[in-house]
Amino acid sequence: IFYGRIVHSKSLKCLQIYTKAALGVNDDGKINFLDEDVTSGEEAAQKYAGFRDAKIMTLKPLQFLFPGFIDTHMHAPQWPNFGIGMEGDNLYWRENFTDPLEVTFKDTEKARRVYSQVVQKELENGSTTVAYNTTIHYEATTILADMCLQYGQRAIIGKICMLVNATHGNWEASVEQSIEDERKTIAYIEKVDPDARLVSPCVEPRGGSFVPGALMKGLGELCCRKDGRLYHVQTHMAETTQDVARMRKLHPEFQEYSDMYHHYGLLHQKTILAHCVHLSDHDISMIAQNNAGVSHNPNSNTCLTAGECRVRQLLNAGVKVGLGTDCSAGYSPSILNAMREASNVSRHLVIRTGDPSWRLSIEEIIFLGTLGGAQVCGMEDKIGNFEPGKCFDALLIDVGLNDNINSDGWEHDDLALVKKWVFLGDDRSIRLVWVSGQLVAGKDRS
Ligand code: GUN
Ligand code: FE
Repeated sequence: IFYGRIVHSKSLKCLQIYTKAALGVNDDGKINFLDEDVTSGEEAAQKYAGFRDAKIMTLKPLQFLFPGFIDTHMHAPQWPNFGIGMEGDNLYWRENFTDPLEVTFKDTEKARRVYSQVVQKELENGSTTVAYNTTIHYEATTILADMCLQYGQRAIIGKICMLVNATHGNWEASVEQSIEDERKTIAYIEKVDPDARLVSPCVEPRGGSFVPGALMKGLGELCCRKDGRLYHVQTHMAETTQDVARMRKLHPEFQEYSDMYHHYGLLHQKTILAHCVHLSDHDISMIAQNNAGVSHNPNSNTCLTAGECRVRQLLNAGVKVGLGTDCSAGYSPSILNAMREASNVSRHLVIRTGDPSWRLSIEEIIFLGTLGGAQVCGMEDKIGNFEPGKCFDALLIDVGLNDNINSDGWEHDDLALVKKWVFLGDDRSIRLVWVSGQLVAGKDRS
């Protein structure tokens, strides 16, 4: 039982901040109860069956529980390139930094070293769930799945599939091999985590400008599981105007990006579409109709000058939206940073258009980094907030140890405390991190 201040999103507009709440976690890592109004953990222990002898953690005045962050789009192999390469556009960046690095993941020892660090650092930064992009290498991708299981991180993982528009040999030998290696990747993940307790496989075409029709078709077919359900899909969409032009050139039958993905069976409720900066109105309604989700990567979109994703328009159209760090086109591993950047990009849209409705509020950016991300990952029944029945994926935040936040002269009202954390906090304030009730990271873990 945790007793004290508990913060989570109920919906896009509704951030709940309870000051005297108790939250009970079962032995299986699921949330049993969230009681908004009790006077102590001991009172909650008496009130809820099965919790009489529970361990009670009473939070300190500047501490609170916060849902684990959900990073809906990041490239694990690009971790060594954080902070470098943003001198040009997407093409320049891929040719000079990304392709040369990604091809080196043929080396499985390198994959083990880098991925071990990626998973631990993402956890320390509070990302309890990550939708990972990898490289064209089957072996390296299985190592990332191993690392997530070893360190206890929830993840969606697939092998990147790509045949054209790359440099430095960063492409696969054939349609058949690409599909076969993706099939093997899925089979491996299903073997090591058969109930998808932590790691779920996905089908991962890099994007419309990298994957010709024959491969898109094969990947769409691969998406349909034997039991009639669908696998997750993760891909890039309409990141730049050049990406849209190249998609049209490679798929001349399609004028619209969304029609291409839809035709090949890759646009559905378990599809994560990264960037979506240059969508047409038709694309937006297709994404909404098919209940696919958008990963908004504001840091990356700014660094590589892709443009401003029109989040308000997507939300108004009923599209699911979450946040991604997009390492290493973005320079920060933290979803807190993505929240701030989403806030800033929305304000730039206000400046440019004069229309204040583009502005995203504190409640909205927190939603995007948590419950919105869960929806984009098709996991809103399992994670994203502290509703009973969901997995306890959580952060213990303590702003007392960061002088930037805990300065004199401001009133410690609850919303201000949360705002201080969102705009001034970092991993120093993340004291403990749980995934499915298991302690997996944090400064106080030892
Ligand atoms: N487009 C194709 N590949 C990538 C990538 O790795 N990062 C980004 N930001 N855009 C891409
Ligand atoms: Fe990306």
